[in-house]
Amino acid sequence: MDDKIVLTGIKPTGMPHIGNYLGALKPLIEMSQNHKTFMFIADLHALNAVHNAKEIKQHTYEIAALMVAMGLNLENTVFFRQSDINEIYQLTEFLMNVTPKGLMNRAHSYKAMVEKNTEAGVDIDSGVNMGLYTYPVLMAADILLYNSDIVPVGKDQKQHVEFARDIAGYFNNIYGETFKLPEPVIGEDCGIIPGLDGRKMSKSYDNTIPLLCPSAELKKKIMRIITDSKTPEEPKNPDESTIFQIYKLFANNDEVAALRKRFLNGGMGYGEAKTILFEKINSVLEKPRMEYERLMANPIEIDAILEKGAECARIVASRMVAKVKKKMLGL
Ligand code: ADP
Ligand code: TRP
Repeated sequence: MDDKIVLTGIKPTGMPHIGNYLGALKPLIEMSQNHKTFMFIADLHALNAVHNAKEIKQHTYEIAALMVAMGLNLENTVFFRQSDINEIYQLTEFLMNVTPKGLMNRAHSYKAMVEKNTEAGVDIDSGVNMGLYTYPVLMAADILLYNSDIVPVGKDQKQHVEFARDIAGYFNNIYGETFKLPEPVIGEDCGIIPGLDGRKMSKSYDNTIPLLCPSAELKKKIMRIITDSKTPEEPKNPDESTIFQIYKLFANNDEVAALRKRFLNGGMGYGEAKTILFEKINSVLEKPRMEYERLMANPIEIDAILEKGAECARIVASRMVAKVKKKMLGL
């Protein structure tokens, strides 16, 4: 993967929860330690669902600050805001003209809307705007604009990267070799992180722990973890405990072994176990939280980081658009 161009986009939604972070964001931060990477905040992708500029802007700052605070390697990463690169609008328009409409009909996100509408007995395209319908073309432009070879994504985005590959192929067939064919890489499965009620941690179950939040809020959340009704004296099974499962994600091997023993031996109530968990997460996240808060109080600094990335991204993007314009329009 060393000489390959790696690219990925992150949609600016609200503060990620611990499951999002460990499942999706942490692998990207780890990758940035030893790979040159293009990484952008996909604010244009939020537009098909969020019609509120303030919200998109705020979420963009939040996710950018979070990635930096959690240790994104800015030396290796061209880190930028998608909408800052004018060439993205141009390439999207160019690619529209080689993308079959039928391909868009097959996109999972669109099909999910159609199914929902069919079940509800309303018009199949109800609530579908062209941004949502053509989302895969914008995403293909994101990928092809920067000559990407490798695109690390979650399982749910694999189809979109395959579409980018298809669209590159259609273009190359008509206009000759222009785009590389990108490959999706699905990160190693970190397993399912449980939420406060023991089910998968998910926004839809309202059982999440935000990655970075004031420590009082963190404590309150952790104290809400649902347990069985064993007394403090009784031995407990760590492998069935949400407290222990989450602890394992933050503690080192010795700490995990020590807490496992305490579960098995009995003599520790769930209240105490929760306090141990809170103290662990709180100490691991204390520094990143401070850095996050510092950056959020200085959005100019975030703008400067993203602008530096944009300057670099524009160089690559403008070359690609010039090449495409020449092939399609002879100009
Ligand atoms: P939610 O279920 O909260 O809506 P998303 O579906 O937006 O979360 O998740 C985005 C990404 O975060 C997923 O592709 C997955 O990689 C990761 N993720 C989310 N929840 C978990 C979880 N409980 N355990 C592991 N990874 C998760
Ligand atoms: N669509 C992706 C998501 O919802 C984000 C994204 C946009 C992306 N453009 C991309 C990911 C290009 C990889 C490559 O998570």
